[in-house]
Amino acid sequence: MKRSDPRLSHRAWADEAVRRIEADVQRSSDTHLIPVALPWPGIALYLKDESSHPSGSLKHRLARSLFLYALVNGWLRESSTIVEASSGSTAISEAYFARLLGLPFVAVMPKSTSPEKIAAIEFQGGRCHLVDSAAAVYGESRRLADETGGHYMDQFTYAERATDWRGNNNIAASIFEQLELEPDPIPRWIVASAGTGGTLATLGRYVRYCRHTTKVCGVDAERSVFFDFYRTRDGALVRGDGSRIEGIGRPRVEASFMPDVIDAMVKVPDVWSIAAMVALGERLGRAVGASTGTNLIAALLCAGDLARRNESGSIVTLLCDGGDRYRRSYYDAAWLDEQGLRCEDEQRAVETWMDTGVEPPAHLFAREGLLR
Ligand SMILES: Cc1ncc(COP(=O)(O)O)c(C=O)c1O
Repeated sequence: MKRSDPRLSHRAWADEAVRRIEADVQRSSDTHLIPVALPWPGIALYLKDESSHPSGSLKHRLARSLFLYALVNGWLRESSTIVEASSGSTAISEAYFARLLGLPFVAVMPKSTSPEKIAAIEFQGGRCHLVDSAAAVYGESRRLADETGGHYMDQFTYAERATDWRGNNNIAASIFEQLELEPDPIPRWIVASAGTGGTLATLGRYVRYCRHTTKVCGVDAERSVFFDFYRTRDGALVRGDGSRIEGIGRPRVEASFMPDVIDAMVKVPDVWSIAAMVALGERLGRAVGASTGTNLIAALLCAGDLARRNESGSIVTLLCDGGDRYRRSYYDAAWLDEQGLRCEDEQRAVETWMDTGVEPPAHLFAREGLLR
């Protein structure tokens, strides 16, 4: 974009940047809502398919909101390097928008991140800066942004602030709009897992703002602090290890995780997340990511909760991204062996659960706010 009077040109540059992002929205269509058959009469499940965004995951919405938030705050310049701490999905989506605006992009991520995600970021013109542990991404991102005179997007802090929870085509408004002609247009439960917690914050705030009776169920991965934080509200909780389910689960309590807008919480062992990922992929005829498996387990627990209360209604959860990003991890038998995550038995149990409603032993899934 042409340089001119630095004071005016900055404002003109930012105006053009906002126009480009809005034009990108205009060119894009909304993501689909896919019904999935369940064995309980009167209980329906829908998947919000966020893998169909141009940058391939639910993070496309967040990345767009973070760029607009930074632009309207005057935090970006035509020479700004964008830096983000991400396990991959957010970085892929932010690299997409950085390229749209002609800005350099650096993703700071654990070196355990899947090679497919690294390739996807580089395909969008981004650069990957690998660090040893998940806990090191924050400090290193700050350092790199200071070093380059760039901007640290910081999804973990701003996810809940940058997204418009009143509507404006956020994920919640889109779900309710797409359910309007369904037998139960106001879902009993909306289920989502947490990485930043931004998606859950948007869902929880929207249903409260619209005064819907819908309840929000949060889901946590195995190696993460969110579930224990939800129960204890101990904000100082930390873990030394990182989550094995990419995109969700965190070693510390993130600023965008809002427990007060979440009505129930479930914790899912990693082997069941992967088992559900495979079982669902076979029903859909295409591979999904592991965090979608985590979501499915909690959605089935919510369905069981309704069935035990002899109640009916609809449940919505998220298909967060496609499985093609995990060929060399969750879809690789050798990797599963190495991680001790072979899940054939669990996969069969999930299939039985989805066919007959027979739930695996209750002790397997810690839950708060749901009937056992
Ligand atoms: C694949 C995947 N699923 C789920 C999530 C969780 O979304 P949120 O950050 O809004 O909590 C993420 C976040 O990065 C993700 O990458």
